Amino acid sequence: MTIPTHASSTIADPFADVDLTERDLTEFDLLNLDAETLVNPYPFFKAMREREPVFREPHYGVYLVSRHEDIVSVARRPEVFSSLLHAMGPLAKLPERAEGESVSDQIRKYTEQVGQPSLVNMDPPQHRPYRLLVNKLFSPKRIEGIEQYIERLADGLIDEFVDQKEVEFIDAFAGPIPFLVVADLLGVPREDHDEFKRQLRGEEFSLGNPSAKHVATRVRVREQGAQAGGVTTGLMGYIHDYFVRYITERREAPKDDLMSQLATATFPDSDEQPTIEQVVALALVFFGAGQETTVRLFTTGMQILLERPEIWEELRADGELIPNFVEECLRFDTPVKGLFRLAREDAEIGAVRVPAGSHVLMLWGSGNRDAKRFPKNPEEFDLHRDDAYRNMSFGEGIHFCPGAPLARLEAIIAWKVFFKRIKAVRAADPAEAYSYLPSFIIRGLSHLHLEIERA
Ligand code: HEM
Repeated sequence: MTIPTHASSTIADPFADVDLTERDLTEFDLLNLDAETLVNPYPFFKAMREREPVFREPHYGVYLVSRHEDIVSVARRPEVFSSLLHAMGPLAKLPERAEGESVSDQIRKYTEQVGQPSLVNMDPPQHRPYRLLVNKLFSPKRIEGIEQYIERLADGLIDEFVDQKEVEFIDAFAGPIPFLVVADLLGVPREDHDEFKRQLRGEEFSLGNPSAKHVATRVRVREQGAQAGGVTTGLMGYIHDYFVRYITERREAPKDDLMSQLATATFPDSDEQPTIEQVVALALVFFGAGQETTVRLFTTGMQILLERPEIWEELRADGELIPNFVEECLRFDTPVKGLFRLAREDAEIGAVRVPAGSHVLMLWGSGNRDAKRFPKNPEEFDLHRDDAYRNMSFGEGIHFCPGAPLARLEAIIAWKVFFKRIKAVRAADPAEAYSYLPSFIIRGLSHLHLEIERA
C-alpha cells in the first residue's frame, strides 16, 4: 500500500475487490508474517469470522479466534486458558509432557526453568494480589495529576522539530511520549528524563514487540539474564538497573511518587512486602506493556490523518472530536492485534473443541470489526461512530489493561497539542510504502517521515 496523495472517502483497502469466499484460509499466514497479511490482515480476519471463526491454522496448529463473543469467552476463562505465553505462543518451547503429566505440570516446570512470570503472564490465583497492587497505583486521581505533564511534554517535543521541514514522527513524538509518561508516573525524577529519552532513541523491538526472530532473541536474553540473576542488556537492562537502585533508595527514603508507593506497598491480601526484584519486574511491565502499544496508536492516527485530510481539518476545528477519534483508531486498527492463551484442559470455543495443550490466539483486531458488535460498516473508519468506545482493544477479563485510562489521556492531550502547533502534515515521500512492524502481536508502522508546517 502506498501513501495516497489525495483525499479518499475511506482508507484504501488493497483487497477491496478480492472475493474472499474464493480464497483458501490456509493461504494466509499471519504467524509467519507473510507480506500480504502483515500489511492488511483484515480480509483474512473477515473471512475467518464468516467461514471458520475458530480456525486451526496449519503452520503452528494455533487456534485463531476471530469473533467478538468467542474472544470474550476465552479471555473470561483464565482458569482454563493460561496467560503464561501470552506474547510468544508456540514460539516458546515448553518442556515435553511426560506420560500422565498435565498441561499445568508443564507450565509449572516451565516457570521453574525461566523464572517467575510477570503480571501479564500470571494466572489465578497468583495474578490477583499483584493486580490489586497495580490497581491501587492507577487511581483516577493519579492519572488526572499527570495531565499537565503530558501537555508540557508534547509541547516541548514539538518545540524541538517545529521549525524543521521534515520529521520522523515516531522518533520525535510518538515514541518519547508514552516512554516518558510511564517514567514520570513511576516517579523517575525529571532531571533523569533526558537520559531516558537518549536511551530510547534508535532502540527498536526490545519492548513488547515480538516477531519470531525477536522472540528467539528475547528468550535467549531472558535465559542468560536468569543465569546472571537479572535482565542485563539493552534498553530494558538500563531500566532494570536504574529501578533496582531507585527502589532500594525509595524503600529507605520514600517520596510522594508511585515508585515509593510501589517500593513500600504490601500485597492487599497478605500484608507482605514484595521483594525489590518483584517491584522492578512490575515497573518493567509498565514500560513493556505501555510503550509499543501507545506508539502504534499514534502511528495509526497519523496514517488516517494523512489519508483523510478532511478528518485533519475537522479535528483541528473541533477538539471535542479528538476522544472519539482516539476510540475509532483503537477499534479500526487495534494496536495489539491478538494475544495467546494456552489451554490447560480440553475446552470448547463456540462450537469447536480445542484439546488441552493447544495455543489459542484471541484476535482483538478482528473482534473490533465484528459486525455483530459494530453493526454500522465495521470495516470503515468513521470519526463519528457512536459506539467506537465499545472496542476490545484493551482486552477483557482479569488482565484488562490497567493503563487504558492513561493511554487514552496521552493520546487525547498529545493530539490536542499537535493540532494546535501544526497547521499541516504531508507524507515526506508520498510514493514510499508504509512499513509495518514485523510482529504478529503489534499492529502499526515502524517509521513515518512527515513534512510539516507550523501553525
Ligand atoms: C494503546 C495503548 C495500549 C493498548 C492497546 C493496551 C492493550 C492491552 C491489552 C490488550 C492487555 C491485555 C493483556 C492480556 O489479556 O493478556 C493489556 C494489559 C496490560 N497493560 Fe495495556 N495497553 C495499552 C497501554 C498501556 C499502558 C500505557 C500501560 C501502563 C503504563 C499498560 C499496562 C498494562 C499492564 C500492566 C497489563 C497487564 C495487566 C494484567 O495482566 O493484569 N498498558 N494491555
